Amino acid sequence: MKIGFLGIGLMGLPMAQRLVDAGHLLTVYNRTAAKLEPLTGGTIAHSPQEAIANSDCVILMLTDASAIQDTLFSDASKLTEKTVIQMGTIAPLESQAIRDQVVAAGGDYLEAPVLGSIPEARSGSLIVMVGAEPQQYDRWLPVLKIFGSDPVLLGSVGSAAAVKLSLNQLIGSLTSAFAASLGLVTAQGVEVEAFMKILRQSALYAPTFDKKLQRMCDPLRVTRRDRDYSNPNFPTKHLQKDINLFITAAQSAGLEVSNVEGVRQVLDRAIALGLAEADYSALFSAIVPE
Ligand SMILES: NC(=O)c1ccc[n+]([C@@H]2O[C@H](COP(=O)([O-])OP(=O)(O)OC[C@H]3O[C@@H](n4cnc5c(N)ncnc54)[C@H](OP(=O)(O)O)[C@@H]3O)[C@@H](O)[C@H]2O)c1
Repeated sequence: MKIGFLGIGLMGLPMAQRLVDAGHLLTVYNRTAAKLEPLTGGTIAHSPQEAIANSDCVILMLTDASAIQDTLFSDASKLTEKTVIQMGTIAPLESQAIRDQVVAAGGDYLEAPVLGSIPEARSGSLIVMVGAEPQQYDRWLPVLKIFGSDPVLLGSVGSAAAVKLSLNQLIGSLTSAFAASLGLVTAQGVEVEAFMKILRQSALYAPTFDKKLQRMCDPLRVTRRDRDYSNPNFPTKHLQKDINLFITAAQSAGLEVSNVEGVRQVLDRAIALGLAEADYSALFSAIVPE
């Protein structure tokens, strides 16, 4: 299959590599050409239009809806009879608006955002959530399975975007709640491991706590040091984007979101501390001053 891929960032690189390794004829485009260097195989396009023209299907793994406008719609005439599979994290309304633009240009559109990060993208074990019509899902399932063994059809376009934002709201809320508790425990001089032993036995425990503990404060020295936010799989700036998208979508659904607004303030503070590109566990530093 001839596939175009727009957005070779942290996630796009391992995902594009899997498509090449599975034998697809891939044409890739990235705004910053240097990021294409680690990709083995595939053809490099010098513009998004070139990648689209060389393909039957175009996969998007771009930051946000504005990046999609800048690339996919730089020349909408190229979209006739192409299928666009949008895999980044955007809002339900944004996804539906992009679908309408693609359809108006004579193309087809489905959304397939993913849960999981770089390790899962490399191993093909992402959780792929699909917003599409059943026949679109059946048609593109073999391609989606390259990223995760069991893509889930959730409903029409918008439904998978909503589920993805709901999951990322949990990432922000759980991580900031854990950081605050960890902060009080350490301020009181209680052994972190004693706190963790109780937490792990309780119904409150989430596996992400231990994963992020290693970066926030590492009593067992699994990493080299405390507050180690280097080599992010998912940077703070993207979690901030997703929490903002969640708040907007939840407010238009009539939900009360003051708890999530608190998470947004924490992320805003982390960004103000210069931690936009750091791993999102850096929100610990916004809650617990050094
Ligand atoms: N990282 C994760 O763990 C993870 C997991 C699931 C979903 N996601 C979502 O997947 C998407 C991509 O994430 P990522 O971590 O791969 O992000 P990333 O490393 O920041 O990559 C973003 C990509 O978008 C491109 N881009 C941004 N603005 C652009 C513009 N105006 N014009 C053209 N290209 C533009 C970037 O190009 P340049 O290289 O030129 O900047 C880059 O290729 C995001 O929506 C993110 O929320 C991420």
